[in-house]
Amino acid sequence: MSDQGELARMRRSYRTARLEAADVDADPIAQVSRWLADAAAADLREPNAMVLATVGGDGLPSARTVLLRAIDAEGLVFYTSYRGRKAAELAANPQAALLFPWVDLERQVAVRGTVAKVTAAESDAYFASRPRGSQLGAWASEQSTVVPGRAAFERRLGELDSRWHDTAVPRPDDWGGYRVSPVEVELWQGRPDRLHDRLRYRCNADGWTLERLSP
Ligand SMILES: Cc1cc2nc3c(=O)[nH]c(=O)nc-3n(C[C@H](O)[C@H](O)[C@H](O)COP(=O)(O)O)c2cc1C
Repeated sequence: MSDQGELARMRRSYRTARLEAADVDADPIAQVSRWLADAAAADLREPNAMVLATVGGDGLPSARTVLLRAIDAEGLVFYTSYRGRKAAELAANPQAALLFPWVDLERQVAVRGTVAKVTAAESDAYFASRPRGSQLGAWASEQSTVVPGRAAFERRLGELDSRWHDTAVPRPDDWGGYRVSPVEVELWQGRPDRLHDRLRYRCNADGWTLERLSP
């Protein structure tokens, strides 16, 4: 970016769609599934990519992209190492935020919720469905640790490949899924003049309430 003015001049008006309470599903999971289907139909690159924010014991938030691998009545599931930084932060504070930045659709979905590991059976089933290279990669990498270079884990990948050359690669115990169970889900649809539509679901004793938020 050549100068700060260029950033300040980047400006689009959002005119694609609108968002009314009457048009959305009373269940936020069903609604997010609907918008996921729209994102997939729009041929977005990685429509299931979402930013995961966590806060560990030091109070300093961290964010990174992960891929949504399942969505059901209980929540949204992603898979990762149980030993990396996000895992340590989730162990200290099992709460997270998720964000789908569907900018091309002038939409975002923001989720806040509590986090728990999925069952070992769910992780096994998902791990078994992954390509062999990704399965070996899960063994070869100690996620989030400092390494001197790529050579060591590329060598390790070769060793692991020989170790299981004629059998299925088992799931490492320290690799699996987390499920984010939403307590709050916000849908955002861009509108002209920055008067965007924001609808927020909140979980309460009777189910979900839906409110409109000021943009
Ligand atoms: C498009 C995209 C998808 C990603 N999907 C995953 C994923 O599903 N699981 C994962 O562990 N890391 C995924 N990553 C890498 C993470 O963003 C991150 O670098 C890694 O999980 C380490 O995070 P941590 O050190 O905070 O634990 C993805 C990155 C990108 C850019």
